[in-house]
Amino acid sequence: MSSATPAAAHDHTAEPVLVVDFGAQYAQLIARRVREARVYSEIVPSTMPVAEMLAKKPKAIILSGGPSSVYEEGAPRLDRAIFEAGVPVFGMCYGFQLMATALGGTVDNTGAREYGRTQLHVSKPGSTLFEGTPDEQSVWMSHGDACSAAPEGFTVTASTDMVPVAAFENDEKKLYGVQYHPEVMHSTHGQLVLEHFLYRGAGIEPTWTTGNVIEDQIEAIRAQVGTKRAICGLSGGVDSAVAAALVQKAIGSQLTCVYVDHGLMRKGETEQVEKDFVAATGVQLKVVDAQEQFLVALAGVSDPEEKRKIIGREFIRVFEQAQAEIIAEGDETGEPVEFLVQGTLYPDVVESGGGTGTANIKSHHNVGGLPEDLEFKLVEPLRQLFKDEVRMVGQELGLPEEIVHRQPFPGPGLGIRIVGEVTRERLDLLREADAIAREELTAAGLDREIWQCPVVLLADVRSVGVQGDGRTYGHPVVLRPVSSEDAMTADWSRLPYEVLARISTRITNEVRDVNRVVLDVTSKPPATIEWE
Ligand code: XMP
Repeated sequence: MSSATPAAAHDHTAEPVLVVDFGAQYAQLIARRVREARVYSEIVPSTMPVAEMLAKKPKAIILSGGPSSVYEEGAPRLDRAIFEAGVPVFGMCYGFQLMATALGGTVDNTGAREYGRTQLHVSKPGSTLFEGTPDEQSVWMSHGDACSAAPEGFTVTASTDMVPVAAFENDEKKLYGVQYHPEVMHSTHGQLVLEHFLYRGAGIEPTWTTGNVIEDQIEAIRAQVGTKRAICGLSGGVDSAVAAALVQKAIGSQLTCVYVDHGLMRKGETEQVEKDFVAATGVQLKVVDAQEQFLVALAGVSDPEEKRKIIGREFIRVFEQAQAEIIAEGDETGEPVEFLVQGTLYPDVVESGGGTGTANIKSHHNVGGLPEDLEFKLVEPLRQLFKDEVRMVGQELGLPEEIVHRQPFPGPGLGIRIVGEVTRERLDLLREADAIAREELTAAGLDREIWQCPVVLLADVRSVGVQGDGRTYGHPVVLRPVSSEDAMTADWSRLPYEVLARISTRITNEVRDVNRVVLDVTSKPPATIEWE
């Protein structure tokens, strides 16, 4: 009982480039950059024994940066066997210093820190890593210790004003290192340097493409599911939509999707799933209209935590009921439903310890006629992918643009964007205001620039306004446009005034009972993105 997808015959994920994670979140970015170079990569913790790393038959190994100093007690170490296995290795920042010290170079604990944008002087312009890049280039540094002598057999290829050895290479042993972070965009030629390592240093062919991902996954899903049936919950978000589309392509009518319309979606979203998604994929879809049930359950509740609990609870109830119906109804094949499709992404896998994933999901049914604890095996076709790769797969599978490039939207939907009690009238109001904001942001070409722009109805607040000849006493609506990389931190987006003005005018003109539009100019922290 495993969710790990069996290896396909021509698995493009075999023999990955391993990114050894020394902490501080650099590893994920490096792994993404490697894949941008069309080479498959996987992240492994620095605590993994070298023998285990080598057992994965890596085409190359990259040592990430990290927050430690090689001289710190308890700082992560690396068995020098990694440099003797004949596998090409590229050390970056902390990884570079580990490499230098392990192989007999000198790293001084100078106490002088180099942080941020730094000028790199390339002394060997034709070297493996720096070929075709300028002699002077901007790089991103973040270190205290500095390498003053390269290990024997290595050529020093670059320096900075503070660091005599800022890059070195040993072509014979296929070992390379740079003191800076080539993975961040501030290192202007970082991607080229990384590609040089992969293609020239390690001799890897760039063959990892979206088409391969789809091909591999279809084969793996077929091998895993066989003739059994699967179900998948669609939330309207990118991940579940792409996961469902992939599984549909692999096993066709053996998959049934469930979509719970809880009435908390934005304008047009339910229709997108019901019509456009089905049209694009041909998937069998069961839509459950549970609007009334959610409204009844939410009546009289203003506390955000309680709202979340109720929405979560009702969602599971409705979803499991639908699931039970699908299972009970069966189909002409008589095959049981054994699999549950989930849109788990690679960052979730890495952050939860990177395990191979053997968990089964227990579904607790309280519906008659079904086993008490029905166990599903998981199908997680996106477990190896980053979000941008998921979008590319979705695009290649022909999913509607509106679904593939959808901005993040909370599971509890508009229910947590009404500050106060949730009622049908308020939901309708907010849906209108939100649709106007989205329309104008799209028209202004700002969708890809901002992370998301929640529109919030302050249902418990009223203020005086004047419209036409009359005094009004309406609700304010808050615009919360934010820029972010990962939603952990965010800044408020400096949207053009004209766009804000248009949104404000339209909302107050077109949405009944709203007489004020205000802009949230708070970063996260201290505020969160959603208001609730
Ligand atoms: P906050 O408000 O915590 O939000 O700064 C961070 C990001 O998470 C989204 N969000 C959710 N997404 N289910 C989700 O799938 C939820 O319950 C949920 N709550 C917040 C939010 O939109 C933002 O992108």
